[in-house]
Amino acid sequence: MTQYPTIRPRRLRRTAALRRLTTETRLHPAELILPVFVREGISEPRPIAAMPGVQQHTLDSVRRAAADAAAAGIGGIMLFGVPAVRDARGSAADDPDGILNAATRAVVSEAGDALVVQTDLCLDEFTDHGHCGVLDAAGEVDNDATLERYRSIAIAQAEAGSALLGLSGMMDGQVAAVRGALDAAGHRDTAVLAYSAKYASAFYGPFREAVDSQLTGNRRGYQQDPANRREGRREAELDIAEGADAVMVKPAMSFLDVLSDVAQRSPVPVWAYQVSGEAAMIEAAAANGWIDRRGAILEATTSIKRAGADAILSYFAIELAGWLR
Ligand code: PBG
Repeated sequence: MTQYPTIRPRRLRRTAALRRLTTETRLHPAELILPVFVREGISEPRPIAAMPGVQQHTLDSVRRAAADAAAAGIGGIMLFGVPAVRDARGSAADDPDGILNAATRAVVSEAGDALVVQTDLCLDEFTDHGHCGVLDAAGEVDNDATLERYRSIAIAQAEAGSALLGLSGMMDGQVAAVRGALDAAGHRDTAVLAYSAKYASAFYGPFREAVDSQLTGNRRGYQQDPANRREGRREAELDIAEGADAVMVKPAMSFLDVLSDVAQRSPVPVWAYQVSGEAAMIEAAAANGWIDRRGAILEATTSIKRAGADAILSYFAIELAGWLR
C-alpha cells in the first residue's frame, strides 16, 4: 500500500492568511538605514550611473533626502562626503567646514530626533590616493598614524552632531582609539558602530563612482579576505571588547554565514550593509527583465535579517519602507 505523509508542512503554506501568520522574519522600516552621498561644490544633485535612483546630493538636496527618510519612518541615515579637494592626509575630513561635517549639521537641523544621523568615519573619500588611511614612506597604509587621524575626525563629526560614527577603515585598534578620543573631548554619548567584519569585496564597485574614488590598487592589506569566516568573529569580538556600541558585517549577501556567526554571539546590536554592488546586481538584472525587482529586493533584505541582522543599511531603504507599510 502506498505510504502517504501524515506530516505535511504544506498545510501552513496553503492560504495567504496562513502564510502571513507563520512568517518567521518580518522587516520593519525602523530597522532600515539609508546611505546618502553629499558632494561639495555642485548646485544640482547628480545621478550616479552605476547606482540607479541614487544621487550625489547638494547641501540643499540632502536636507530633502533626510526629510523624505524621516517621513518614510526609517531608522536613520548614514552620510558620506565627497570633497572638492583631496590631499594625502584627508584634511577635509576633520575640517569643521568640510563637506561631511557641514552636511551633518544640515541634516541634524532638518531631521531633529526623527532620524538617527550617522556618519561614515574613514579617509578614503578624502585622500588623494584613495586609501582608508595615511601612507608611510613605503606607500603602505600606516595603522597607528591613521588612528591619530581617526581620533581627530571623530571629534569633528561628534561636534557636527553625528549621533553614531561608522568606523569603516579596518585599522587595528580603531574603536578603542576613537572611543578614547571622544571621551576625552567630552563626547561620551556619541555612539560607535564598528564595521567589524569588512571584507575586501568586488561588490563595492559602484560606490567608487558614488564617492569619486581616487584609489588605484586595492584594500587587501587592511580589509578582510573573503575566504575567512572565523576571522569575522574575531574582528567583532575585538571591537566589542574595545567598546563598540554596535558591530557590522559588510557586504551582506555574500557573507550571511559571517553575519549569522556574529549575530549568535554578539551582546551588542549587529547590523549589515547591503552594499552598492548588491543593489547594482538587482537593478541590472531587473532592467534586463531577468528578475522581478521588487521580489528580489524583498528577498535579499529579508535574507539579511533572517541571518541575524538587527538593522540593515540599504540603498532601497525608503522604497522598502513604502512597501512594508
Ligand atoms: C569606506 C567605505 C566603502 C563602502 C562604505 N564605506 C568603500 C570601500 O571600503 O572600499 C562601500 C559601500 C558600498 O559599496 O555600498 N569608506
